[in-house]
Order: sequence, then C-alpha cells, then structure tokens
Amino acid sequence: MHILPPETFDTVSTLSFVRTVVGEVMALLPGDDQDIFQHGCDSLQATWIRNSILRVLIASKKIDAKAIPSNFVYAHPTVRLLADMLEHLASGGASSRLEVAARRSEDMIRMVTKYTLSPAFPNHVLAQSEPQPESVLVTGTTGVLGSHILAELLGQPGIGNVYAFNRSSGALGIHAHQRAVFEREGLNVSLLESPRLRLLEGDLLRQEFGLQTTEFDMLLRDVTWVVHNAWQVNFSVSLASLEPHIAATRALIDFALSTPVALEQQITDPHTVLGLGYTESKWVAEQILEAAASQTTLKPVIIRLGQLCGASNGAWKATEWFPTLLRTSQLLGALPILHGKASWVRVNDAARIIVNMSNSAERYLHLTHPHPVPTLFVLNHMSQLLSLPLIPFAEWFCALEVAASEEANAATNPGVRLLEFFRTYANTEDQIERETLFPVVVDNAKAVQISGSVMNELMPLSNEDAEKWVVHLQQKGYLV
Ligand SMILES: NC(=O)c1ccc[n+]([C@@H]2O[C@H](COP(=O)([O-])OP(=O)(O)OC[C@H]3O[C@@H](n4cnc5c(N)ncnc54)[C@H](OP(=O)(O)O)[C@@H]3O)[C@@H](O)[C@H]2O)c1
Repeated sequence: MHILPPETFDTVSTLSFVRTVVGEVMALLPGDDQDIFQHGCDSLQATWIRNSILRVLIASKKIDAKAIPSNFVYAHPTVRLLADMLEHLASGGASSRLEVAARRSEDMIRMVTKYTLSPAFPNHVLAQSEPQPESVLVTGTTGVLGSHILAELLGQPGIGNVYAFNRSSGALGIHAHQRAVFEREGLNVSLLESPRLRLLEGDLLRQEFGLQTTEFDMLLRDVTWVVHNAWQVNFSVSLASLEPHIAATRALIDFALSTPVALEQQITDPHTVLGLGYTESKWVAEQILEAAASQTTLKPVIIRLGQLCGASNGAWKATEWFPTLLRTSQLLGALPILHGKASWVRVNDAARIIVNMSNSAERYLHLTHPHPVPTLFVLNHMSQLLSLPLIPFAEWFCALEVAASEEANAATNPGVRLLEFFRTYANTEDQIERETLFPVVVDNAKAVQISGSVMNELMPLSNEDAEKWVVHLQQKGYLV
C-alpha cells in the first residue's frame, strides 16, 4: 500500500489522508463519523491502520511518530476522530495524561446525560396483581455466561417462561446456534427442548426490538424480570464504540417500564473507572439505571462481576485476557510473574448465583470469589503445564512491546491487541493486595451475605481447574 502523506496537516487534507488509509485497509469506507469497529474493523486491521499512518508520518517527518500511542485507532474510532487527532498532533499539541483523563470522564458524563434526560423515562403503569410464576427476558444467551444463565433458568421449575433474546445468528439460525453454544459449554442440551423456552432474534435498538408485533406484545404482557447480560467484552475499544450497548440498556429500561409489572454502592465519580472503554461503558449504563430507579418504579439489581473462568469442561474464550496471556507467553517463550489475587468465579457458579441474586432488594452486588488464590499460584502451575519459565513482568511486557512494533508479530501475537490493558499492570504499583490487573479493590461482603452459604461454599481454584483450561485451549488449537 503506497499512500502519500498530506502536503499540510490541515483539516481537509488530513481527513482525506485518513479516509484513504482506512478505505484501503478495510476495503470499504465507513462514513466519516461512523464507528469503524461497528463496521467490521478487527484488531488486525486496526494495527494495519495505525502502522500505515505511522509509516507515512515517519517518512514525512512532520509529526513525532512516538506521540502516536499503540491504542491510537481504538481511542479514535472514526475517520474524523483519527483525522482530528493527527491534526492536533501536527499543530504541536500533545495531550497530557490529565487532559486525556478529563476528556474521558467528560465523555462518560455526557453519555449519561444523553441517555437519561431526553426523552424522559416513561411512566410505569402497575398491574393489579403480579402474574405468577415470574417470566424472564435474558439477553446474550449465545455467549459464555448467558448460556449458563439460560441453563440455570430452564433448570429451575419455579420460573415461568424464559425469553432468550439475541442478535441474529445469520444463516445458522438461533436454534442451531444456541444448541452449539450449549454443547461447547458442556451444558445439558435437552434443556433447550423446554416448552417454557422462546428463542428470539432481534435488535434492541430497533422499533419493538425488531420482533414481530405479536412477539413483542407477548413480551410486554408476560415478562416480569429482565437479565441484561449481552455486552461486547472487549478491553481495546473506546467508550464511543460501545455506545450501542448504552442505547440498548436504555431501550431495555423503557421496555421494563412499559410492562405492567414492577420488575454494594453507586460509584458517582467517573475517574474511579477510567482507563478501559469497557469499564467506562459499564459505569455509564449504571448511572442510567440509577436515574431510572430514582425517577421511576424500576428496581434494578446491578451485579458487578469479577473475572469469570472456565467451568466444568474448562471452556474459556480464547479472546479473554488470561487465555490471551497464555498464548502470548507461548509466543514470547515465557510467562510473566504477576502478583495480586485471582478472585475468578467459574462461569457455571456465577450463572447460578446471578439467577438467585436477581430478586435481591440490594441495588449493587459484587460477584467475586470469596476465597481468592494468589495469581502466582495459577501461573506456577501454568509454568509446569506449558513448560515455560516465569520471568519478571517488566521483562515480559518489554518483549511484548517489541513484538507489537514488528509488523509480522503484531499481526499474529494476540497479546498485541491487549498491550494497553497489560500496560495497566506495568503502571500499577502495590499489586499484592489487589485483584491482578484490575486497579479497584472490590468488597463482596454484601453479596456473600445475601447468597446464604452459596458463595462461601465455592471451592477455591485448584490445579485441576488450570489443567482443564489448558486441555480445552489445546483442543481448540489455541494453545500448543
Ligand atoms: N467473562 C468475564 O470474565 C466477565 C467478567 C465480568 C463481567 N462480564 C459480563 O458478563 C456478560 C457476559 O460476558 P461473557 O463473558 O459471557 O461474554 P461473551 O461470551 O462474549 O457473550 C456476550 C454476549 O453478548 C452478545 N453481544 C455482544 N455484542 C453484541 C452486540 N453488539 N449486540 C447484541 N449482542 C451482543 C453476544 O452475542 P454473539 O454470540 O452474537 O456475539 C453474546 O451473546 C457481559 O455483560 C460482560 O460484561 C464478564
């Protein structure tokens, strides 16, 4: 790809330059203000776009290429935002960390305002009596946790109809897709035969969720409880790229308030969760639920989940940070020494506890393992299983940064995608007492208390768990 740098970095030339780069890499050109990640840009293409821009800039000597961070494309997910940032850098402006943090928290607050002020939340019309038993609408059941929640709901005879709502499964069809996910997760496939189950495909952002009017009316009449689980679990994309999830949360609040039945502490300061677009998007969704709870009769239960890990059959999605760290370590030839705790919950345990928590009178509950193990305990065992030495994290991260700067490795090493996420560990001192790689200390006392003995009786992670994860990831061809 040979693209000439712009003569000058004025608005028009920079925009045209970025359009050319994005168009060439993606082989299609989204509109200037459209999110490229919502239009199919993957991590490999994001790396190409960044490298193509870098190459041209180094050649032009007009912008200090070192000022372009590795998450540059994720942090500026439209053609216009990329061009604006380049223009800003060309004019000599480099953003300080404080400026970036201020801009990010302003963006979060602006998004809360956008989804709470206008239109106002609808008035809730209560029915005379609540239908029994409760019927549940659960989103994202084609995912890991959602499929376990679905199995749990179908396994509990006291629960009424279960509406599993997902985006389109394409040609495969939702029935075959859901079945394949149950098989992958080692769940009881016969549960899907339940007459209480309705598998629905739609889009929460469309009128009547993109369903037939009769189907949507049935949901309005029957649903008494919504479990909103669908979300893009991606630690690279920015808050702006996750806006469709915020809009979907608002759409579900409006839905819950339109049904005839009423369906650990708020974090008010956005600075507490700054860093990942993912955590920022969850904070925004929480504030919108808070606003709905204070202005309407909606009673949300917000379950903040810690890290989930593979369950009885060891299934753990390769794109998550820990499997990614394992594969990256195989490519780098060593595992990093990580301090801190692993309060990871097996996904089947999490699903069971979530279903039981959903009726809680508490607004916030933290679902993390009450008996964490040192992350180094897990890594020591991984070191034996994968025959890899453990090296200081700084050394490991340095090797990853080198890989990220080499085009061939950047494309094949999955850790490059999570470079900025791993950098947070490099920047976090005092990891010993904390959850590894997550800066916020989480207290789960309330959740432990309301779960009865269920959380306290969870078995700590063992070598057996680690072995199951490795076997699963090797069977999938992800680990060698
Ligand atoms: N995994 C963890 O350790 C962890 C930790 C804390 C919190 N959580 C939370 O738990 C929930 C489920 O996570 P998971 O690990 O089970 O994730 P997952 O396996 O990736 O499943 C995500 C689900 O959301 C759906 N989804 C993703 N993007 C969507 C979009 N743009 N529109 C509609 N549906 C979309 C997926 O549909 P497709 O199947 O069509 O892609 C899938 O059904 C999320 O809210 C996540 O934030 C997870």
